[in-house]
Amino acid sequence: MTLLGKRILLIIAGGIAAYKSLDLIRRLRERGASVRPILTRAGQQFVTPLAVSAIAHQKVYTDIFSLTDESEMGHLRLAQEADLIVVAPATADILAKMAVGIADELATTALVATDRPVLVAPAMNFRMWRHAATVANMAVLEARGVRRIGPNSGALAEGESGPGRMAEPLEIAAAVEAFFGRGSPLAGRTAIVTSGPTHEAIDPVRYIANRSSGKQGHAIAAALARLGAKVTLVSGPTALPDPPGLTTIRIESARDMLAACSSALPADVAVCAAAVADWRVDQPARGKIKKVPGAGPPPLVLSENPDILQTLSEPGARRPRLVIGFAAETAQVVRNAAAKRLKKGCDWIVANDVSPEAGTFGGDANTVHLVTDAGVEDWPRLSKQEVADRLAARIAAVLAPDSQSDAAAMSSSKVAIKPSSLRRPARPRRGVIGRA
Ligand code: CTP
Repeated sequence: MTLLGKRILLIIAGGIAAYKSLDLIRRLRERGASVRPILTRAGQQFVTPLAVSAIAHQKVYTDIFSLTDESEMGHLRLAQEADLIVVAPATADILAKMAVGIADELATTALVATDRPVLVAPAMNFRMWRHAATVANMAVLEARGVRRIGPNSGALAEGESGPGRMAEPLEIAAAVEAFFGRGSPLAGRTAIVTSGPTHEAIDPVRYIANRSSGKQGHAIAAALARLGAKVTLVSGPTALPDPPGLTTIRIESARDMLAACSSALPADVAVCAAAVADWRVDQPARGKIKKVPGAGPPPLVLSENPDILQTLSEPGARRPRLVIGFAAETAQVVRNAAAKRLKKGCDWIVANDVSPEAGTFGGDANTVHLVTDAGVEDWPRLSKQEVADRLAARIAAVLAPDSQSDAAAMSSSKVAIKPSSLRRPARPRRGVIGRA
């Protein structure tokens, strides 16, 4: 309950991202905050006052000329009785009005009538975000002390792509926690996360690779960063944007990935989610290999790539305190994963079924089993983001066990499977988890 007793005035402006504000309310409330919502006129075109009120468990304010509202709670009191005002989504329109002080409806009037701190989560088309007017308005607001989270890059509602997506509700909740100096259980901790495939050149045109979208690894890196960790994401070629708030090193081959991970050491935790190509071509051709009629395919002499997970797991002063691998399996998922954990010497393995029926590759959901030296936990089917949040919470519980964060609380209440449901305990091995 990192936000216990905190009063948030949430202004929902008129953008498609307004639907995410419902989830934001839930995230803030489950952290103990009370959320008093104001919907702008345009906001009401995207979410209804009834839906917002049902989730906020509060009256929703919409109209500055409502006598009932004014007698219950004047708009000046509404604006002042908040520890933080959050504008999410913050459209180009409301940012412009805030910048010049236009007070043409309840939301904008409250923003002018307050001296409370304000956090905005911009959301708009990327051209609007990059427009000189919006850039200037945002600069004015930031110079005035308005805080900002996002926008993120990625697919936008209109089918285009670029910066303009509202930050995810969990990111906004984390920014609210950070504002109040709470909820950063991994502050001061460092993490290395590998993600995506590696490409091993055959020639300048062709390569060997494993299937991987990078979605799970990127989500884990972002989840650790949200909990305050200093994260280095070492990513193979993916179509994903670099997540905000962390350092991304883009590489091509397994050997580059190992070099980047080694240079990011020391770290408190390493999570190897990359689908590293097991082999590389011994001597990639400098020019494109041409097909010679009748000669058949060229022989490829392969060498084994370094195993990054195994290398990071080697005992020694630079070994991260917690090393976590993934096991991509198509059969006997848990048994193979448990064997892989012992073979590679890592502490935990997140086992997932990557058979085509499971739809894990490229999909947004994952069904995983967490294999530790205490046994196996079966997690329900979750979005990759939820898997990332749960894993980050578990990591926080190990690296910052005294933290009062809800991440750690989540780890002990919702995430951790009770000992009774742990199954197939693995062979006891040297106790690496919890080592100083
Ligand atoms: N891994 C790694 N470096 C490699 C190969 C794998 O760091 N050269 C890591 C992956 O990031 C993952 C774990 O090892 O965390 C297991 O990867 P997986 O592909 O499931 O297993 P492999 O080691 O390739 O074993 P196999 O192909 O026999 O299943």
